[in-house]
Amino acid sequence: MTESRSGGISGVAGGKSRFDDIYDRPDPRAYFARLAPLQYEIPHHAQPDFRQTAAERTALDDGHPRPPAVLDLCCSYGINAALLNHDVTLADMYQRYTSSTAQTMSTAELTAWDKEFYAERRRSDAVPVFGLDVSGPAVAYAHAVGLLDVAFTDNLEQVPPSPRLGRALAQVGLITLTGGGSYITARTFTTLLAKARRPMWVNAFVLRTISYDPIEQALAAHGLRTTCDPSRTYPQRRFTDTREQRYAIEAVRALSHDPADREQAGRFHTLHYASRPGPDTSR
Ligand SMILES: C[S@@+](CC[C@H](N)C(=O)[O-])C[C@H]1O[C@@H](n2cnc3c(N)ncnc32)[C@H](O)[C@@H]1O
Repeated sequence: MTESRSGGISGVAGGKSRFDDIYDRPDPRAYFARLAPLQYEIPHHAQPDFRQTAAERTALDDGHPRPPAVLDLCCSYGINAALLNHDVTLADMYQRYTSSTAQTMSTAELTAWDKEFYAERRRSDAVPVFGLDVSGPAVAYAHAVGLLDVAFTDNLEQVPPSPRLGRALAQVGLITLTGGGSYITARTFTTLLAKARRPMWVNAFVLRTISYDPIEQALAAHGLRTTCDPSRTYPQRRFTDTREQRYAIEAVRALSHDPADREQAGRFHTLHYASRPGPDTSR
């Protein structure tokens, strides 16, 4: 697959189109411009779940004086943090970052514009959010505009956590994930859980083309029980082309899901996995 920095997809991995070149820009404009025609929408579906779960986790008395932090895994430009802690919708973000006003700005101007925008919309129930993503520019932007309290770029698929990330994980009580299930494995979760010092909850929206079993088992090894309603799916985005659709239909069938009215209708669908400490009764 050819790579284009101005448009199109940037490759294929395991049959799914990749968008690597929009993950490491100095600001989120290319990300939203590229994903808008594909109607990438999973952060919108996750928003109410992450808000409710963060509130429940914050209300849990775990004996620590400070509220637990949320760690948004594969956080990119801080989209889930924006939707969690601000009166903002994903549609607002698409409109903002693809607007003609935004196109005229330098990254520095956009940063200043965003800082004010998010500060004005900050919710009274905002919780601390840490972000982890291998893209330095993306997390730097999210941190600069105030979406992330702290940002990390450790690639836990390849290296152990830095001491700084290790210390931060001791404050985390909830891990959230959208759009990252194709990039990370149980290895990342095992590392994160090994450093947890407070009860850890995990809420993840993961494509039906991917088996969550290895991650579920890794979480179970740390005492977390995972629930998922396989009848309830959440659309992630339109397919880039018929090749990608064929791949997705085959992949979901291989995992015993029915693609009718879902992948066959033209979009990737996700399942929602919620893990909390408890006995593993699944097997
Ligand atoms: C599709 S984006 C999802 C961004 C955001 N969560 C959303 O839903 O809009 C996937 C992100 O995963 C990040 N990523 C890829 N490999 C990773 C890894 N090993 N650890 C952490 N993040 C990774 C990429 O840099 C990219 O920002």
